[in-house]
Amino acid sequence: MASTTQPPYVNPVVPFCGTIQGGLQDGLEITIKGVILASKDTRFAVNFQTDTSDNDIAFHFNPRFESGGYLVCNTKENGYWGTEEWKTPLPFQKGDPFELSFLVQSSRFQVTVNKNLFVQYTHRVPFHGVDILRVTGIVQLFSISFQLHPKNAI
Ligand code: GAL
Repeated sequence: MASTTQPPYVNPVVPFCGTIQGGLQDGLEITIKGVILASKDTRFAVNFQTDTSDNDIAFHFNPRFESGGYLVCNTKENGYWGTEEWKTPLPFQKGDPFELSFLVQSSRFQVTVNKNLFVQYTHRVPFHGVDILRVTGIVQLFSISFQLHPKNAI
């Protein structure tokens, strides 16, 4: 059975910046429920960071509702972006609710959208120091919750 590691953030206001208690660990799953706003703007982002400065982002998950819709994933180190990883199509629609889940595995993040595997992102920096979660852009959030899955249970 998965266990809860910290209380959920309920109806968090966007832009959101909050702590991941104890930092990321293998088997931790972060689930974000919300709705994509029918905005004229086109992007939202979920960032897993080592501090609040935005200079070091272990995983930048950035859906863009532009050019038919695509996902950009990247890492920022000491203020410099690395090489982008792109993915299409987007499994999101403006105006629609979504459930977005990030499972931390030893070698990668595994991202599911509405329970379907969407993308995997191999760790470029150690994840243990990552204890800040930031969400920005055209989303309204209902909850951010945390579950720890025991080893070999996934
Ligand atoms: C930049 C953009 C940043 C970030 C980055 C990812 O072009 O301004 O917000 O998304 O790409 O590589």
